[in-house]
Amino acid sequence: MLISRDKFVGLEEVTHLCAGGESPMLKSHEQAFNRFMRDKSMGERTREKQDAVLKTTREQCAQLLSVEVDDVTLLGSASEGINAVMYGLSWQAGDNVVIADVEFASGVYPWTRLADQGVEIRIARHRDWCVDLESIDSLIDERTRVVLISHVSMFTGQRMDLAALSALVRQRGARLVLDATHAVGVVDVDASLADVVVSSCYKWLLGVHGCAIFYCNRERFPELEPPFLGWNSVSAAGGWRAPLEMTLRSDADRFIPGNPSYVSIYLLNNALDALLATGIHSIEEHALKLTGALHHGLTDQGWEVMTPAPAEFRAGNVCLMTDRVDEIAQTLREHQVMVWGTYAGDARLRISAHVYNDQDDVEKCLQALSSIR
Ligand SMILES: Cc1ncc(COP(=O)(O)O)c(C=O)c1O
Repeated sequence: MLISRDKFVGLEEVTHLCAGGESPMLKSHEQAFNRFMRDKSMGERTREKQDAVLKTTREQCAQLLSVEVDDVTLLGSASEGINAVMYGLSWQAGDNVVIADVEFASGVYPWTRLADQGVEIRIARHRDWCVDLESIDSLIDERTRVVLISHVSMFTGQRMDLAALSALVRQRGARLVLDATHAVGVVDVDASLADVVVSSCYKWLLGVHGCAIFYCNRERFPELEPPFLGWNSVSAAGGWRAPLEMTLRSDADRFIPGNPSYVSIYLLNNALDALLATGIHSIEEHALKLTGALHHGLTDQGWEVMTPAPAEFRAGNVCLMTDRVDEIAQTLREHQVMVWGTYAGDARLRISAHVYNDQDDVEKCLQALSSIR
């Protein structure tokens, strides 16, 4: 494993293979939380202290995404980031948005708000659980404003070829909105290939709820306006003498109208210290090794594995479709193996491998599943 299990809360007894749902808390978050408590109590100096942590955290995010820090900020959730794009663009009747059928709900529902403006939602259908570039390409035309796709699918585990997707969307003059929630923190993501990137922080990034990465490529997406404005959106203000005078900030923080969730950001800062020190390339290699072994073992046992086998088309998730969820759920609980999808009871199970997992975890999971098979 890359980060020792004993650095996390609650991993002594269980085999935790569900970072794709919720990752366990780093024990060092307690110190980060204490730092937040101390800084929060410093009166007027509080803002200066908290803004310093926000600045460092934005720098860490920019490093992770290989982009300029001014293009990155932290909104409240990935879902909020997608809604910011929907509300931040001015739409015309006849425009369309392209998504995939296996997209997460928050990549789908926001666009339905545009129906009464005459905006069409086009849905690329998967084949054998894979979304291919041809099916996306066939839906794009000169009225396509946005293509929203997950870099790594939460549903199937498929990783898109980001460079090829980016080239395709750009060539057709549309904007690529990438949900990288299941990619950032586990595989290398070059965000500059997209026009907007959103990512939750409570899964692969080892943070908590309340903040999510929002990257907006200002050069490529100048028409995107912040949909909500507040005191934090501006770099200059007229004050009581000229209340309506203001200059919008030029950096991505213009998308944050008020105070962000600093407590979440302190914890994200701490998590990113750990992930960046480990190195994203090592993390990717480690996760691919473990998901490769999972994929191989599950296929051998005869399960319907939805995730593609080649390493370049998967990341930290291996997903399987089954009509035996209840039986699997019970067996895995008896073996103290945690995966995702057993409580929701949908027919899809997701097994995830991250920095605190090792080959032993993979064996335990496979062994438990083989007892059912
Ligand atoms: C692909 C994807 N995007 C977004 C989210 C939700 O993110 P948030 O709660 O930050 O809006 C999830 C949660 O499971 C997800 O799988």
